[in-house]
Amino acid sequence: MANNEDLFKQIIAHAKEYGYIFPSSEIYDGLSAVYDYGQNGVELKNNIKQYWWKSMVQYHDNIVGLDSAIFMHPTIWKASGHVDAFNDPLIDNKDSKKRYRADVLIEDHIQKIEDKIDKEIEKARKRFNNFDEVLYRQTNTRVMQYQMQVEDIRTRFAEMMNNNDLAGLKALIEELGIACPISGTRNWTDVRQFNLMFATKLGSVADGADTIYLRPETAQGIFVNFLNIYKTGRMKLPFGIAQIGKAFRNEIVARQFIFRMREFEQMEMQFFVKPGEELKWFDYWKQTRLQWHTDLGIPAENYRFHDHEKLAHYANAASDIEFKFPFGFKELEGIHSRTDFDLSQHEQYSGKKLRYFDAESNESYVPYVVETSIGVDRMFLAVFSHAYCEETLEDGSTRTVLRLPAKLAPFKAAVLPLVKKDGLPEIGREIFDTLKKDFMVQYDEKDAIGRRYRRQDAIGTPFCITVDNQTREDGTVTVRERDTMAQYRLPVSELTGELLKKMR
Ligand code: GAP
Repeated sequence: MANNEDLFKQIIAHAKEYGYIFPSSEIYDGLSAVYDYGQNGVELKNNIKQYWWKSMVQYHDNIVGLDSAIFMHPTIWKASGHVDAFNDPLIDNKDSKKRYRADVLIEDHIQKIEDKIDKEIEKARKRFNNFDEVLYRQTNTRVMQYQMQVEDIRTRFAEMMNNNDLAGLKALIEELGIACPISGTRNWTDVRQFNLMFATKLGSVADGADTIYLRPETAQGIFVNFLNIYKTGRMKLPFGIAQIGKAFRNEIVARQFIFRMREFEQMEMQFFVKPGEELKWFDYWKQTRLQWHTDLGIPAENYRFHDHEKLAHYANAASDIEFKFPFGFKELEGIHSRTDFDLSQHEQYSGKKLRYFDAESNESYVPYVVETSIGVDRMFLAVFSHAYCEETLEDGSTRTVLRLPAKLAPFKAAVLPLVKKDGLPEIGREIFDTLKKDFMVQYDEKDAIGRRYRRQDAIGTPFCITVDNQTREDGTVTVRERDTMAQYRLPVSELTGELLKKMR
């Protein structure tokens, strides 16, 4: 049985081998933390986006879409706070010349202590019947010591981050004895702030060219279009604006495959509400978004909320939906109650009123905002890593199968003539031509049928449709299900209806 690190490596290798994800610019040795989606990856990614768009825009009569430009007026990023505060604290090791995020070094150190706690608990769980974890945490001296260490580091660390205490962060790294994983030394530079936005020039490079930024989030495109959409869409509070698009961050520590990328895609929705009603809507969106995830059939124990105790200065509530990735529970989506911060800032910087006129109370005000924000790529990784499975069959053989939710799978079915003769390919082609009008379908007549089934299992196709001699006689085909490998016969005329039913 593979450990989590090996499993993650297998998942990355599988994604490449089966045309899901390739390192960007691979023939030039790649570009760090940038990836390309291959022939199957682009389908899965599009299906994720469509699933989100439908649930937001199609199923809500008070949410509309937007596709704003990546380039925006540079003052927007001043108003939003990104120019001054969208920073990560970085530190260099003088011997290896490697650069790290100071906060990540400390978080990794905390994680190591937490791993020790987990190990102690796991050992005790195996040793004692009727094991009570809560009681064990309260009474076992070693576990209590580890827990106190974690709590102490966390409290001091949070205070330093809040106060932008860079000297304190360096002192903490030294105190904890954190060494560079490459050189093994503790020879650190001072901690400095590093802005994550990519800057470029608009217009000629000669005098007068303006510095502009590649957007680090899609949300600001929504805020600056609030008035346009409110007026032209004749929207009434509460209403939402949804957007899917690229975002760019010059991440210092880019790792864990597509979990943290420098170029990625976000699906964000800003929900504008009457001031005072935001916490009610915050709870609504927390539950609605969790439901969106579990509706895919991925068991609920893979998700948990992480409510933020320390809030950004503009938020009055924030929570992450965390997912159990192969490397542990990590943020998948954020739900934030952002008050009237963004619209008020843009009012101030643009000099334009960004108000809603409430006909009931006959007053104008800046609406409050509840945001839901999820990375497409992170969602991809969640679905893909959960779907990946290597199983041993009854006859002792093994198969690799991607148990993707049927509605997200790149191909819904594969049409496979049993042999390349007796008119079976012609019937197969006819079935393919019919099904392709409603679904993404593959046609494959190469190799033995068993190998073709395995190929479809590996890319996650939920149904294989086999055309055999009986098809010529009675117009039925064999349908083979990916997950159970169960097989049954169906008339060709019922295939579209059956697939539609399964998709829902
Ligand atoms: N507008 C709010 C916002 O951007 P965030 O927590 O910085 O909030 C939201 O990002 C989501 O975007 C995250 O939950 C994650 O899914 C995704 N995300 C953020 N940075 C990412 C990166 N470097 N690579 C991939 N996905 C990222």
